[in-house]
Amino acid sequence: MRLIKTVIELRAILSKAKGPVGLVPTMGAVHEGHIALLKKARSECSTVITSIFINPHQFNIKDDYLNYPKSASKDLEIMETEGVDIVFKPELEEIYPSSYTTTVKVKDLSDRFEGVSRPGHLDSVATIVIKLLNICQPDFVYFGQKDVQQLLMVKRMITDLNIQTNLVSVGTVRDIDGLALSSRNIYLNKLQRQSALGLYCALKLASKLRINGEQSANSIKAEMEKVLINHKLDIDYLAICDPETLDEITYIDKTAIVLVAAHCGKTRLIDNLLI
Ligand code: PAJ
Repeated sequence: MRLIKTVIELRAILSKAKGPVGLVPTMGAVHEGHIALLKKARSECSTVITSIFINPHQFNIKDDYLNYPKSASKDLEIMETEGVDIVFKPELEEIYPSSYTTTVKVKDLSDRFEGVSRPGHLDSVATIVIKLLNICQPDFVYFGQKDVQQLLMVKRMITDLNIQTNLVSVGTVRDIDGLALSSRNIYLNKLQRQSALGLYCALKLASKLRINGEQSANSIKAEMEKVLINHKLDIDYLAICDPETLDEITYIDKTAIVLVAAHCGKTRLIDNLLI
């Protein structure tokens, strides 16, 4: 495995790399969710690159950026074990020199839900992702369903900007009790960890109600709200949407996606489920 810090070096290596090339963008603090992406990439590509870059622009709160979990040596060990060929871990200046001014915006998809709660967050994600795609020019790029709005936004951007890559979506990896794995879960104390499970309980309830024939999004959301409140979660948003456009729907007559974001103490958690 090679650890590369500059674009010029990476491009030189990639010009000789065996295809197909797969890219797994991450911010480090690697957990089983990331590992699922690495395994999928390894199984489909001859050359696997993963990037580790904590993108400061996508954090709305400075402390969240400064305190974002870092586990550099453990991350590299895991990546080596998972058979990653190249780890691209640039310094901030390499990606965002002081002269940098360009931002990419995916209209509509980045203006709702996460876009409302975290203004500018998804624009910054789109910008770093297009930079990584331009730098690595992968045949395949891997994203987790856990961050479905990010995934759909990147998919839209790839189509709109004619980027030559295929986006591969990987299902959400959960703890044994159902909590979606997230780098931020380490902030939860024991009690908060129990509360956090409320997101998954509410999503499972939505699925059960739907299976039992409920078609009213409002009725499902009302039942979910009770579960979230019982778990002492502070709801940020709760929505039932078309799974491609994320347009909200009121009457469910085909597969829909339920999105939920809630604060558990100071930690903000998101999750989603197709119903
Ligand atoms: P990060 O939070 O490190 O996540 C990297 C990738 O892992 C994303 O595609 C995310 O959806 C996926 N992932 C995280 N938790 C997961 C889980 N429990 N199951 C499956 N996949 C999971 O998302 C980012 O970084 C950044 O926004 C990034 C795309 C790297 C741009 O900076």
